[in-house]
Amino acid sequence: MSSSRVKVIVPHLIERKNASGILTMVTAYDSTFASIVDEAGVDLILVGDSVATVMQGQKTTLGVSMDHMEYHVQMVASVKPKALIVGDMPFGSYQSSVADAVRNAVRLIKAGAEIVKLEGGVHVREAIETIVRADIPVMGHIGLTPQSYHRIGGNKVQGRNEGKQSGSRDRILADARAVEEAGVCAFVIEAVPAELATEITANSGVPTIGIGAGVNCDGQVLVLHDLLGLSERSFTFAKAYSNFRQLSLIAVSEYVSDVQNRRFPDSTNSF
Ligand code: KIV
Repeated sequence: MSSSRVKVIVPHLIERKNASGILTMVTAYDSTFASIVDEAGVDLILVGDSVATVMQGQKTTLGVSMDHMEYHVQMVASVKPKALIVGDMPFGSYQSSVADAVRNAVRLIKAGAEIVKLEGGVHVREAIETIVRADIPVMGHIGLTPQSYHRIGGNKVQGRNEGKQSGSRDRILADARAVEEAGVCAFVIEAVPAELATEITANSGVPTIGIGAGVNCDGQVLVLHDLLGLSERSFTFAKAYSNFRQLSLIAVSEYVSDVQNRRFPDSTNSF
């Protein structure tokens, strides 16, 4: 499928929203899965900092470094996908100063990302504006921002409460306005009530990409391991379209048994 597809470029994101089309994004962290998801026809491949939890065995995304992200972006970019490559800015790579934010965004672009993503709203406005001024397209990420794990006290649904406190409905609306005004090309909305994501999407001039944010966003994103059923855990917001973990277990167990019983290799695998 990928060879006949047109390469997805940043201007297509807004064109898709204006045409009431829907965007599909999925994570990938290596060349094998990048080529599979690209052939399947996704619009965007997110090299997410979720690499920490699904590949590195960590509890949160906080431990991922710029070196890690650069490495995974390079692997995904090596297959030259038709999908747009989104490079996730890891925790610590844009919070310290706008100069660091630009320097690290440049590193991801040099590694092969075509747009960078960072988490937060009002408080990262200046970082987004500065990266955009450096001519690097930015994707925002509001609602549940997993890099705020310790402040939030876990990965909790946001935007349920009225009031002005962090995580309230008003604060999520303000975050949506802030990232759009700062110049993002699109933004992820994670784990907020579907009706809030619908309101944000209706009022936004750039595409919204939802995860746990209902069906009315301009696009959807899933972590590949959740989509494939590779994860040990299941989440309300995700859907497993396969049971890859079980299939892998069966395949490797058969291999172990074949080797132990001298059924592999047989004459067809031997020289
Ligand atoms: O890192 C990631 O996979 C993400 C998605 C959950 C949007 O940020």
